[in-house]
Amino acid sequence: MGINLKVKIGRLKLQNPVMAASGTFGYAEEFKDFIDLKKLGAIVTKTITLKPRAGNPPPRTCETPAGLLNSIGLENPGIDGFVEEKIPFIKVLGVPLIVSIASEEGVEEFVNLAKRLDKLKEVSAIELNISCPNIKKVTRSPGHQVTRLISQDAKATFEAVRAARKVTRKTLITKLSPNVTDITEIAQAAESAGTDAVALINTLMGMSINVKTGKPKIAMGTAGLSGPAIQPVALRMVWEVYKKVKIPIIGMGGIMDVESALEFFIAGASAVAVGTANFINPRTMIEIISGLEKYLARNKIRDIKELIGSLKI
Ligand SMILES: Cc1cc2nc3c(=O)[nH]c(=O)nc-3n(C[C@H](O)[C@H](O)[C@H](O)COP(=O)(O)O)c2cc1C
Repeated sequence: MGINLKVKIGRLKLQNPVMAASGTFGYAEEFKDFIDLKKLGAIVTKTITLKPRAGNPPPRTCETPAGLLNSIGLENPGIDGFVEEKIPFIKVLGVPLIVSIASEEGVEEFVNLAKRLDKLKEVSAIELNISCPNIKKVTRSPGHQVTRLISQDAKATFEAVRAARKVTRKTLITKLSPNVTDITEIAQAAESAGTDAVALINTLMGMSINVKTGKPKIAMGTAGLSGPAIQPVALRMVWEVYKKVKIPIIGMGGIMDVESALEFFIAGASAVAVGTANFINPRTMIEIISGLEKYLARNKIRDIKELIGSLKI
């Protein structure tokens, strides 16, 4: 039986619905000795900003009983370094390249980055990372006391997505934060501003303390939690968003194997991204792709699309 794993995200056609989550796969070259990169559905690169960033001071990661805390703080070579040093390796692979971008300076930086990437034929899609918990927060009104991420505010999300949408025809993905009361409001704001898809979830805010020193284990104090601990939360959010939007969802958060990936499709994801698992077993994505084929064949399902949102309640 011929199995179809192909999916479409906006105008982007993927040979299969499995991709790397931003920040956990470097710029793909780091994994070339471990897996056949050509087999991936897409490559999502570490978030870049306009200027290079050194990131946060160490220690920046620590393990917790069922997950990983990180506060990398978007260390990256900036757009010029990315274009010169990182794109040449990825472009020969023939796998769609999704470039994740973030802003240190509000909406204007998203616009500048999106304009620049729009001109590059090697770039298949742009992911707006409006949800990194480890960088300076953006305030909509200067002097306002509560600082928030763009993705913690529906209006700010709408404005950022709309501004990026105006300057690019490339597939636009908006990455959402789980650190909100109602993620569906934010997803709907992104949809109405013209994003082609939403990706969720980024990391959940957490912390860990060294009881011998009384200090946080991460230099910045708080950090983002990823890995198996967050999988049920991510799944619940994908299901909630699926019921409220018409655009495709890229689901992620604690996917460790084919079973946890399957849960996301059933909850409504059109594609999945694998993050923390790449650090434990770099073959995870490859195993998930072949595991999906086997699952579909075993259950006499010809097309992965039949599975999307098939939850029986
Ligand atoms: C070390 C590390 C670095 C990350 N860096 C980024 C990043 O640069 N941009 C981004 O959008 N998400 C970043 N993330 C979040 C992941 O892309 C993903 O949303 C999150 O980890 C949940 O998936 P997982 O549980 O499979 O890791 C990072 C996660 C980790 C663990």
